[in-house]
Amino acid sequence: MKKTLTAALTGLATILGAQSALADKLNIGLLLPFSGVYAALGTEIEAGFRLGLEHFGDDLGVDLNIIREDTEVNPANGLARARKLVMQDRADVLVGIVSSGVLGAIRDFVHGAQVPLIVANAGNDEATGERCSPYITRLSFSSGQVNRPMGRWMAEQGITRVYTLGADYAAGRQMIGGFTETFTAAGGEIVGQGWTPFQQTQDFGPYLAQARASGAEAIYVFYAGGEAIAFVNQYDSFGMAETMPLYGSGFLTSQLYINAQGESANGVITALHYVPTADNPENVAFIEAFEASIGRLPSEYGVHGYDAARALTDAIRAGARDRASLANALRMTSFDGPRGATSIDPATNNIVQPIFVYETVTGETGAMTQNILATLPAEADPVNGCAMPAPATN
Ligand code: PHB
Repeated sequence: MKKTLTAALTGLATILGAQSALADKLNIGLLLPFSGVYAALGTEIEAGFRLGLEHFGDDLGVDLNIIREDTEVNPANGLARARKLVMQDRADVLVGIVSSGVLGAIRDFVHGAQVPLIVANAGNDEATGERCSPYITRLSFSSGQVNRPMGRWMAEQGITRVYTLGADYAAGRQMIGGFTETFTAAGGEIVGQGWTPFQQTQDFGPYLAQARASGAEAIYVFYAGGEAIAFVNQYDSFGMAETMPLYGSGFLTSQLYINAQGESANGVITALHYVPTADNPENVAFIEAFEASIGRLPSEYGVHGYDAARALTDAIRAGARDRASLANALRMTSFDGPRGATSIDPATNNIVQPIFVYETVTGETGAMTQNILATLPAEADPVNGCAMPAPATN
């Protein structure tokens, strides 16, 4: 009897101890690529996230303990690292994920473990569509959201025949798919498509040669990170700009690497949810702070991290202190940020935000910059098969 009572009291003390530990410290598992073709993206997201915590993380009443893990842009490693962060490090929330392939691989684990995940890049449509979860909230973009407006916009410019090229994995397929859907619905024709092996293509020459032979009026592509730098440089060397202008989703000419592309990127027209030249007071303040702390202009990846920190700190400030309450509060995120009015659609947990069509041009200082051609109104994604209960509001 005495033994049982002691055991019960010890158990109670452990539970109370765990509760008070939860109340004054939250573990954040930062799960990003720090190696592979998207390593620079991971580093930039982390820089934005830490800046956001500095700006919005005062007076939270809890310590935030960041534990970093490298996905290596590899779905199996990403899943192993997610498990480690949740099971071993007891992460209260996960932040990150750059690749749609990694997001697809960890979705069931995150949902089953009931740990909130703030997606700070990966556009995988399914994660806020048919595989949505009350535990997954996306502060970045969805693949369809960035590319569908561009299909309509290019058709409006009178372009009718397009060749597409993309990295052959979930993001490439979905981004090109979103563009194709609206472009063909507006009467455009896709005259041919090429898919380049993801993370394995150094020479885009054979693919560019096929695009050139197709007789299309324009080429539309999805590439990001190291692949985007190589692709834009090789497209320029092929001398195709005169005959077949280059369009794409705006990761192609991200601020993060446009100066590595230099003049090769001049004249490329793309669409994205953030450009540093976006004219709003929050963006001006954000750019000033990012430049002061990191020493260069931010890109969309920096904004994803910064806004993820803002959403997380808003949730904590609203009283969320454990996995369930954090997940619930994150779904109610809404603020004016560097991209303009930014909110989460609780029907899908995807972000709602405007899309900018922009041309990359050589700026007055000689550095490359973005000339905004159109600001397309914010649109919530269709629910795409997502069914989940509304967040609790009390
Ligand atoms: C993705 O895999 O979803 C992805 C990766 C890099 C980007 C955009 C999307 O820049």
